[in-house]
Amino acid sequence: MDATLLIQTIGIFTFFYFLIQIFARPPIKKCCVVGTTIEGDKKGSMTHINGVDAYISMPKNKSERAVVFLSDAFGLELINNYIICDKFAEAGYITIMPDLFNGGAIPGSLMSIISADTSKLSLLEKANRLFKMVASFGPFTIRHMDAAKKLPIVQDTIKELQTQHGITKIAATGYCYGGKLVALMNQHDINFDTSAVAHPSMLKVPYDIERIKKPILFNCAEEDFMLSTKAANESEAILKKNNVVNKFIHYPGTTHGFAVKPKPNEPKDAMDKCFQNTVDFFNETM
Ligand SMILES: *[C@@H]1O[C@H](CO)[C@@H](O)[C@H](O)[C@H]1NC(C)=O
Ligand SMILES: *[C@@H]1O[C@H](CO)[C@@H](O)[C@H](O)[C@H]1NC(C)=O
Repeated sequence: MDATLLIQTIGIFTFFYFLIQIFARPPIKKCCVVGTTIEGDKKGSMTHINGVDAYISMPKNKSERAVVFLSDAFGLELINNYIICDKFAEAGYITIMPDLFNGGAIPGSLMSIISADTSKLSLLEKANRLFKMVASFGPFTIRHMDAAKKLPIVQDTIKELQTQHGITKIAATGYCYGGKLVALMNQHDINFDTSAVAHPSMLKVPYDIERIKKPILFNCAEEDFMLSTKAANESEAILKKNNVVNKFIHYPGTTHGFAVKPKPNEPKDAMDKCFQNTVDFFNETM
């Protein structure tokens, strides 16, 4: 490695280091990346939709109803996401999870690195872990920050469901990052029937909420730096005022991320309750 390249590399990583210190430190410590993987095997299969990888899980019985599964930053890298898709299929919905990140989701292995107790690690090991985090999150944040750019993928997924699978009813469900996409679908006239979000990220309250038109269930963590209880309450009032079908469910003892990757100290059934409430809401609203 020549000297210029070395200096540039150090410069870039220092930049990301401070970026993470300033913006992403609480998220990384508390949220999206801390959690556990769930046990199980995938039951669905991989497909391509207009050049984008996607996971599809089919119900046993023929169905005209589908779930578009909009993932967190771990996307197709995290087994939990596949298993939740399979559960929607078991509940009777053709379920598709498109790769929102073009192969660039945060590696699942990073979750265990960050979740681990770091207090006993040497400084070098801590630096090594930080380096891995920065190397993943820096580029991820820069590439995928603008969630609206992902809407064509969502649109293609819906088109695939309609043309290839004869789907007539569509529910969108979004976790963390995917939650923002659900809000944006309302702003870009994407055709769907109902929706749910769990601990959504990056929502602008009130702007994004004012523009929600389709039925929506909010599954809220008790402690969520991305959507505080106050912001959730404010959102609920806006939707009520605008006569949008809505439901807000709060899960005591939970933090951001609980519906996909619960932490060991969170109530064990919160994730399952969230899933069941989502299915119930879809069944009620479409
Ligand atoms: C599938 O169809 C069978 C026979 O009609 C029915 O008994 C069963 O409950 C259905 N399963 C689901 C998940 O809807
Ligand atoms: C949110 O609303 C609930 C129920 O209306 C209320 O009990 C709670 O105090 C509110 N929390 C905040 C932070 O506004």
